[in-house]
Amino acid sequence: MHATLTNLKTLMEDMESSPKRRTRNNVKRFYKTVEDNKIKPKLSGLKDIAGYEDVKKQIKTLFVLPLKQPQLYLNRQSQKTLLLFGPPGTGKTQLVHALAAETNADIYSLTASTIMSAYIGETEKMVEIMFKVMKHVPRISILFLDEIDGLCRKRHGSEQDHNRRLKTEFMCQLSNFDENPQSFLICATNCPWDLDTAFLRRFNNRIYVPLPNRFERVELLRLYTKDTVLYNTFPFWEDLLNITEGYSCSDLNDLVRNALLRPVNELNDIKIWKLVDDTHYIPVSKVSVEEFGEHLRFCNLEELPDKSVRARDATLEDLLESTNEVKPTVPLREIERFDEYIKWH
Ligand SMILES: Nc1ncnc2c1ncn2[C@@H]1O[C@H](COP(=O)(O)OP(=O)(O)OP(=O)(O)O)[C@@H](O)[C@H]1O
Ligand SMILES: [Mg+2]
Repeated sequence: MHATLTNLKTLMEDMESSPKRRTRNNVKRFYKTVEDNKIKPKLSGLKDIAGYEDVKKQIKTLFVLPLKQPQLYLNRQSQKTLLLFGPPGTGKTQLVHALAAETNADIYSLTASTIMSAYIGETEKMVEIMFKVMKHVPRISILFLDEIDGLCRKRHGSEQDHNRRLKTEFMCQLSNFDENPQSFLICATNCPWDLDTAFLRRFNNRIYVPLPNRFERVELLRLYTKDTVLYNTFPFWEDLLNITEGYSCSDLNDLVRNALLRPVNELNDIKIWKLVDDTHYIPVSKVSVEEFGEHLRFCNLEELPDKSVRARDATLEDLLESTNEVKPTVPLREIERFDEYIKWH
């Protein structure tokens, strides 16, 4: 709290030069927006990112090691900015959280839409404040700007004035970002081809985060099935790995979630239940004449006592069946577009 107030004071002094009262009031409001978007990392480190060894290695070399082993970087330029690009759901946001955890940093996570929500004509002030806050942060911090394409699209002739001013301010702040002692800037986008080239030029470090390859799909599926019965189906994933080519990390996560829910979902159609160990009911699909007896109950799921129903275990079959229900979300033409893009950038 104390650090925050000190920051605000320094910031206000910094902004003192502004003669307009409205601008000064907005400074406070924008400052609050930036502070309100400060979050703690949701992961405990890069080890929580399955696969993507190359990407993790690059991030370690660029941002983690300089803090932990600074002597290695005496004659090497320290890196302050990074652009992550790739299809949706490939773990760009996760990587930022993992890096923040590794470096014990706070994340100031803002999207283009949050920045643009400042009054028209004041957005460039919002950008200025955001960067000023980063200059005064009391500890290591990451400014994470997601959907950066919403802010730094290629310039075009018919662009409105306030948009142009916003971009100019942004570029100007970017150029000076290296001077910030304790902060990094990470931007992420799904459409790097829309980005202004002047903006791209200011990012020496650009990392492509692609869809997971076969090996990474194994790692991800193992992570998502960990602590579940599906984990043991691992030796039989050959078909699954073929079918899931083109799935993003979050598609695979959805797939596993779907497979685990299938046995529960099925219970909605069950009309016959068998009482086991006096308190629990399990679903019965067919009953033979010999099985008729007191331990059977004919009713819908809702009629059974709370906490009394058991479902069958999920199986490999459920995983495979789920691929019919959970389809890859990234269209093939978009992957081709990324392939083409990285050839030239
Ligand atoms: N390498 C990974 N290891 C473990 N889980 C991952 C990994 N990558 C992604 N995920 C999972 O996928 C989900 C989506 O990841 P994330 O939000 O980081 O993707 P993104 O690339 O930022 O997507 P978008 O471009 O849509 O913002 C996460 O909630 C997480 O469950
Ligand atoms: Mg993201």
